[in-house]
Amino acid sequence: MEIRITILCENLVGKLVGSGEHGFSAFIETEQGNYLFDTGSGHSIVANSLILNKDLRTVQKIFLSHGHSDHTGGLPEVLKLKERVDVHSHPHVFLDRIAVLKENEKETKRFVGIPYKKGYLESLGSNFVFNNNFIEVEKGLFLTGEVPRKTPFEKPDPRLFAEVDGKTTQDIFLDDQSLILDTGKGLVLILGCAHSGMINIINHVVDKTGKEKFYAILGGTHLDFLTPEQLEESINVLREMEFERIGVSHCTGMRAAFRLHLEFGERFFYGCVGSVLEI
Ligand SMILES: [Fe+2]
Ligand SMILES: [Fe+2]
Repeated sequence: MEIRITILCENLVGKLVGSGEHGFSAFIETEQGNYLFDTGSGHSIVANSLILNKDLRTVQKIFLSHGHSDHTGGLPEVLKLKERVDVHSHPHVFLDRIAVLKENEKETKRFVGIPYKKGYLESLGSNFVFNNNFIEVEKGLFLTGEVPRKTPFEKPDPRLFAEVDGKTTQDIFLDDQSLILDTGKGLVLILGCAHSGMINIINHVVDKTGKEKFYAILGGTHLDFLTPEQLEESINVLREMEFERIGVSHCTGMRAAFRLHLEFGERFFYGCVGSVLEI
């Protein structure tokens, strides 16, 4: 075993331990150190890390997939346990974000951006390292940076908005970025919410790494909130790809997870709290 990835925070619990929440976080153990990708919404990360025996104090770097509160809300809980640590993200991670939801014909606006100011997080020991472009953050470990939107079928979630210069605009999520581990068995791609489109992200990774062989695709795909056509088009592309495992979580939702399981059989698993992928 060279690498072990454990789902720390996720919507569902399926391994008899831990708590579920609306959020995502993955604990990554490698021979060169441990890393954290996203922090969940803050309710379960510490409790789940203890019950899953993952020591958050050992995390060498933290990566944030984007600024939504269900991925960044646990940051203070992790920082309080640690000495100063690099937190890698896109500069737009601090944008104010709104979700407009229709519930029983009633429209509600909810703040869904990062719940903390940069200065507060810095006072707890966060050293923000911003990137806009694809970068190698550690040997064999990459962040996608901004992902070009190229596929015609991957559309943004129409319920999500950002507040820029006092104006509410459709959120285009320039900060949406994913983590790539270049392993001996192929690339492992960890998505946060895939707001830039799972297939756009995969295409960008292939373009930047020059590699087409994936070992695993993990994380939130956001397919639950999009159209059945987008799900089917995404599956059409995945069908042509080379990968061993697809372990989706969080905003993938049940409808898309069932469909992916049906399509990919044994290669599929649901990445609930406590799920482990060893490479
Ligand atoms: Fe999310
Ligand atoms: Fe999100």
